Amino acid sequence: MSTRNLSETSITKAVTERMRKAESKRFKTVLTSLVKHLHKFAREVELTEDEWNYGIDFLTRTGQLCSDKRQEFILLSDTLGLSTLVTQLNHRSRGGETEQTVFGPFHREHAPRYKMGDNISKGIRGVPCFVSGTIRDNKGKPVQGAVLDVWHSDDDGAYDVQRKEWKGAMRMRGVFKPGKDGTFHLRTIRPRFYPVPTDGPTGELLNASARHPMRPAHIHFMVNAEGYDRLVTHVFVKGDNYIDSDAVFGVRDSLVRNLKMHEPGKAPDGTMMRVPYCTLHFDFVVRPVKKVGKQG
Ligand code: BEZ
Ligand code: FE
Repeated sequence: MSTRNLSETSITKAVTERMRKAESKRFKTVLTSLVKHLHKFAREVELTEDEWNYGIDFLTRTGQLCSDKRQEFILLSDTLGLSTLVTQLNHRSRGGETEQTVFGPFHREHAPRYKMGDNISKGIRGVPCFVSGTIRDNKGKPVQGAVLDVWHSDDDGAYDVQRKEWKGAMRMRGVFKPGKDGTFHLRTIRPRFYPVPTDGPTGELLNASARHPMRPAHIHFMVNAEGYDRLVTHVFVKGDNYIDSDAVFGVRDSLVRNLKMHEPGKAPDGTMMRVPYCTLHFDFVVRPVKKVGKQG
């Protein structure tokens, strides 16, 4: 088919037909749909050249800001709700497992490994927080050999990577190996709500949309265990001011827990606390990897 003299409607088919020899069927499905939706979008809003030039410049600046310490494209996907949509599409509940939510840009590889009960926030100002829970499968059996990754913000709502003065030190994050009975416990400080980074194109978009950049207080958890789907989730603090307006649309009712405050006294690990402290409990349920049937 000749692709000369294309009109504002016939151009879409011309582009999608050009990919007919693509080897991967899935690639063809995804890209064809993307082109169709992009063209439909341009027609629907009658996109002006100035607007598209701005769009190209916006995406260029988004890419230019990305580095091993900053992932502006993830932030853009998060604030547009695309990350949560993809999470939901890929983790439809099959029976009682803990819901997943966005990964976010603040996880770090090679976080310190801790012994059960250790304090991951040593020396950092904040309300002491004792976190406990279990990791089980959806039949209630403790999961053996699970690895639990934890990370969260400090009392000012900052992650360690955002504190230049800490020169790369890893704080308020760590990796634990729960016991054979599937239980875990650790000590840290209470996390606080915080704004997603707003000094780049995503901030520009939030501003132009009259949206706030805040995320409600939460602790990130990731559970990896052989034979089970990876669980990436948060536990959110009940009563947080931003619980119903998370900038990245990640809050789920089933992940909200009470962060219980206690007067000074004996903490769950036996430590005599001279200051008020809080406790948080969450029982994680992971699901076995879906068995793939024999092909052909
Ligand atoms: C976070 O929870 O760490 C996060 C998630 C999405 C965007 C920014 C931060
Ligand atoms: Fe976070």
